[in-house]
Amino acid sequence: MIVLGINAYHANAAAAIVVDGRLIAAVEEERLNRVKYAAGLPVRAIQFCLEQAGVKLTQVDHIAIPRDPFARIGTKLRYAIRMPRFALDRARVMKRFSGIREDLASAFEIAPENIRARFHRIEHHKAHLASTYFVSPFDSAAVLSADGLGDFASSMCAVGEGPHMRILGDVVFPHSLGMYYTALTQYLGFWKFGDEYKVMGLAAYGQPEFLDEFRRIVYAHDPLSFRLGLEYFTHQKLGPDMTWREADRTPVLGRIFSPYLEKRLGPARKPDEPLTQRHHNLAATMQAALEEVLVSCWNGLAEKSGKKSLCLAGGVAFNCVANGKIFESTPFERVYVQPAAGDAGLSVGAAFAVQHEILGQPRSFVMDHAYWGPRFSQAEIRTAAESAASDEDVAIAELPEAELVRTTARHIADGKIVGWFQGAAEWGPRALGNRSILADPRRAEMKDILNRRIKHREIFRPFAPSIAEEATGDFFERTHPSPFMTFAYPVRPEKRSVIPAPTHVDGTARLQTVSRTANPLYWKLLRAFGDLTGVPVVLNTSFNDNEPIVCRPEEALECFRRTRMDVLVLGNYVLERKQSPAESAEPAGRFAGREN
Ligand SMILES: [Fe+2]
Repeated sequence: MIVLGINAYHANAAAAIVVDGRLIAAVEEERLNRVKYAAGLPVRAIQFCLEQAGVKLTQVDHIAIPRDPFARIGTKLRYAIRMPRFALDRARVMKRFSGIREDLASAFEIAPENIRARFHRIEHHKAHLASTYFVSPFDSAAVLSADGLGDFASSMCAVGEGPHMRILGDVVFPHSLGMYYTALTQYLGFWKFGDEYKVMGLAAYGQPEFLDEFRRIVYAHDPLSFRLGLEYFTHQKLGPDMTWREADRTPVLGRIFSPYLEKRLGPARKPDEPLTQRHHNLAATMQAALEEVLVSCWNGLAEKSGKKSLCLAGGVAFNCVANGKIFESTPFERVYVQPAAGDAGLSVGAAFAVQHEILGQPRSFVMDHAYWGPRFSQAEIRTAAESAASDEDVAIAELPEAELVRTTARHIADGKIVGWFQGAAEWGPRALGNRSILADPRRAEMKDILNRRIKHREIFRPFAPSIAEEATGDFFERTHPSPFMTFAYPVRPEKRSVIPAPTHVDGTARLQTVSRTANPLYWKLLRAFGDLTGVPVVLNTSFNDNEPIVCRPEEALECFRRTRMDVLVLGNYVLERKQSPAESAEPAGRFAGREN
């Protein structure tokens, strides 16, 4: 049984393929077409998934689409009458989805009737819920999805038992935690699609001094839901102003905070204005108010479900700072967050929803690693590595694995910035040790060096550590695994000076725990670094420079040549610059206006 899940005509377009109940491949279109957050029909991602499964589109049995234009149709129509722009947008969406069979046939140059798959529309939040629960290690769990908006809802919760989920409730437009966070992110001067995580990093610098006001902007409504103070927003009057139908453009979201919000909180910060302590405090308040609502929802869900395990999905599930507080704030003992918790993950969710809820198949799969994307043959990697042989300033060596690991660990310990390209690309937005740039976490200055030489991003944003899983408790105050970098935990006070580079200003770090089984090579590298230094931790940031994370070996090589990285480890090849790149006088990346 072959089920293809496709998140199309929506930001974070992606595809995933499930064969006989097991995920075979999953990839975001942006990694392949190199357009950040690409929307449109993810033709390249679908092609990759089909190739990995060894099938043609004509052999697929079911195609799962995580969008149901008819969901909540009555509510949509009521708003459509009041909001012409919204009505037009809905009409366009329905037209695109009704033509997906023809679009697929056209893209794959086959007749539409040759696609024999049954098409299934899975409501957006049901697909989010399925994306986490059905691939979690739990036989039963409470499940929560929260995002900006999808199929006219922004949140849904359920209880999962075996291959079924029972929906407990939802929160519908215009109330939305995602809209709340985005509106305040815009207000603080960050307007690019996906900038919310920057403000989450900024929050650590401030105090939540505006909490009384923010409790009117967003607040818990009952044990399972929340409300927005709608006077602070515009989307409920004008409709969400989103442009994300094109495959070759990053989505754009229009302003969603109202003049009333500025009246209450003061003028919005312009993107080129300096960040002041007031902005830090606003960011801190925004995060604190979100956490208050989430704690209420989590506890309501714990009580209503009676479960000790929790699965999270939706863009809000990327709030690792909030996630890190689940264990101290709720009865939940185990939490699972899928690596592509956002809308890319809908492709996985829709496929598994069909597998279990529509086809009634038992569960037989756990997503215990994130490496579902493209991998490249030894020959392809050799070709890329050898193409650097003509670079005068680069020395190339091919090393057996044990030596490769020791050499790489030594370079990191020596303060070098190392590009690390191995195995299959990660699923989801985080680099998790296969497409990563690595550095020494013990060197406080490494954060500035990385910003100056490679990343050029805002100085307030933290870098993250990877740690050998078994050492987690030695460095962090919690030991619950965080294999996909979706939790921030306090670093033990005595270790903050040991790993200063990835320790954020509030003493936490958004860690990746690496197990021997999930990524053996990366785990060996962490152990080798630990053998050398006593610290089985490396600083891990995504392998990119103002672009989606590199996917192909040639892209890694190009990024190595373009930036001032010291070493590139490409499979078994070590490419080392003969002279360390000169330091730049460029200031440490405070608003270079670049997206990483
Ligand atoms: Fe979503």
